[in-house]
Amino acid sequence: MKKILLAVLVFAAFTLAACGGGEPAAVVAAIPAEFAGKTNPLGAESAAAGAEIFKNNCTACHGEQGHGDGPAGAALNPAPKNLPELASTVGDDYLFWRVSAGKLGTSMVGWKGILTDEQIWQVVSFIRTLK
Ligand code: HEC
Repeated sequence: MKKILLAVLVFAAFTLAACGGGEPAAVVAAIPAEFAGKTNPLGAESAAAGAEIFKNNCTACHGEQGHGDGPAGAALNPAPKNLPELASTVGDDYLFWRVSAGKLGTSMVGWKGILTDEQIWQVVSFIRTLK
């Protein structure tokens, strides 16, 4: 019995260590090299165009304020992310990558080819304005 308890404790310690004590980098996936370090070439004013793109393509799942509460998102597993919450922990390169490439195993498709790079950066600017 003691051995099992010890094993559980050791496992828990490793799991906690692997989570890095809440370091944001440990929570989100590693950004592929072709995206890592990219910065938004557009200014904050591009958020207005991004708002329009977001309304047309993203609110159905993510909700108007990006809180993950859009009507089409309710039945999804995993549910759409709360974008302002995520954005506070990741850089623009992460957001640009996810919107471009999507997320495997979820309903989040890659928007590259549907939206231009410029439009994706506009959406990233808009996500930065969400609270
Ligand atoms: C069909 C529903 C749907 C649509 C439309 C959609 N998303 Fe998503 N999105 C999701 C789901 C589901 C996830 C995954 C959530 C998770 O992994 O916990 C996600 C994840 C994300 C993520 C974060 C990925 C991560 O690292 O967890 C971002 C950023 C994002 N979406 C932005 C957008 C933007 C911008 C648009 C519009 C261009 C959009 N999404 C359209 C459903 C959608």
